[in-house]
Amino acid sequence: MDNAAKRLLVPLAIANLVVNIGIVVTGGAVRLTGSGLGCPTWPRCTDESYVPHGELGMHGAIEFGNRLLTFAVAAVALLTFLAAWRSGDRRARLLALLVGLYIPAQAVIGGITVLTDLNPWVVSLHFLSSMVIIGLCVVLLDHLRGPVRTAAAPRARQLAWGAFALGWVVLYLGTVVTGSGPHSGDLDSRRTGLDPQVMSHVHAWVVYALVAVTLALVVVAVRGGHRHLLHATLALLAVEVAQGVIGFVQYFNDLPEWLVLLHMLGAALTAAVIAWVVLAARARRPSRAGRPGGAGRPGRLSGAAQPQISASTATATNSSER
Ligand code: HEM
Repeated sequence: MDNAAKRLLVPLAIANLVVNIGIVVTGGAVRLTGSGLGCPTWPRCTDESYVPHGELGMHGAIEFGNRLLTFAVAAVALLTFLAAWRSGDRRARLLALLVGLYIPAQAVIGGITVLTDLNPWVVSLHFLSSMVIIGLCVVLLDHLRGPVRTAAAPRARQLAWGAFALGWVVLYLGTVVTGSGPHSGDLDSRRTGLDPQVMSHVHAWVVYALVAVTLALVVVAVRGGHRHLLHATLALLAVEVAQGVIGFVQYFNDLPEWLVLLHMLGAALTAAVIAWVVLAARARRPSRAGRPGGAGRPGRLSGAAQPQISASTATATNSSER
């Protein structure tokens, strides 16, 4: 085990989360400035060159800038994997590897979006893949730094999974709305052919269901005295309210680009928080001495605020869930 690597692992895991949310926003800027085909091919920018030339103008520079950011994201993922490897923590290794493997996969899907002239279904896959990476970054962070906690009651865990599933449906439907609307990333790109107004309503209906499940989860977390789950659920509720307001304002105002960008940031935060809610409903054991992240520090247990479950239940849940 390498202590320096263990110390670096948490900041690197945080950096991973931040850069992956960041690239969703810069990717959004590519689309919203109409620069989606600023570099008309992939992996080269043009048939002759890997870098854009002057004639491609601002769109070329914007899209190429976003391509370059992939290297920054890949570098952080690689450093995280190396630190995880040296730390000797097997679960951290696996999670860092998964995050790392997703980056080249995303680069390829990003390339396919260019090669298919921004086919909206491929753009959707590209966006949703980023949401998966963000979720994995949260799982890694929880593994390294999450507070020790007992499992929430079965109903709370079911509701947490319900919020997670509905959150993913909302994310998917959001991309369908975008794929049917005007912000394709390039003037000549094809659209899904679906009615964006109808799809916006379908997207919003599932948001209402998500808000209902979240409110139910707040009640269950309060009644069960599950402090960690309550924190995560309130964070989800806050993101939902913000997203809902942005969603409606952009819908009634012909989708101003800056609001759409904010909505994309909110979507990335939603992906992070729905993962956190599921994790917060699960048990997390005190770590063995020397395990990275110092997760087993005394005093981090939610203590009296925890639901009173028996030691045997907690052990059984721990071993089945982790
Ligand atoms: C938890 C709440 C919400 C989440 C997580 C969410 C998520 C998303 C996502 C992921 C996208 C696609 C982004 C992209 O592909 O670039 C999107 C687009 C969109 N959402 Fe939401 N959304 C939420 C609430 C709402 C609400 C309540 C409305 C109200 C109608 C709304 C209206 C829209 C519209 C109009 C678009 C299309 C924007 C465009 O054409 O670029 N959203 N949303």
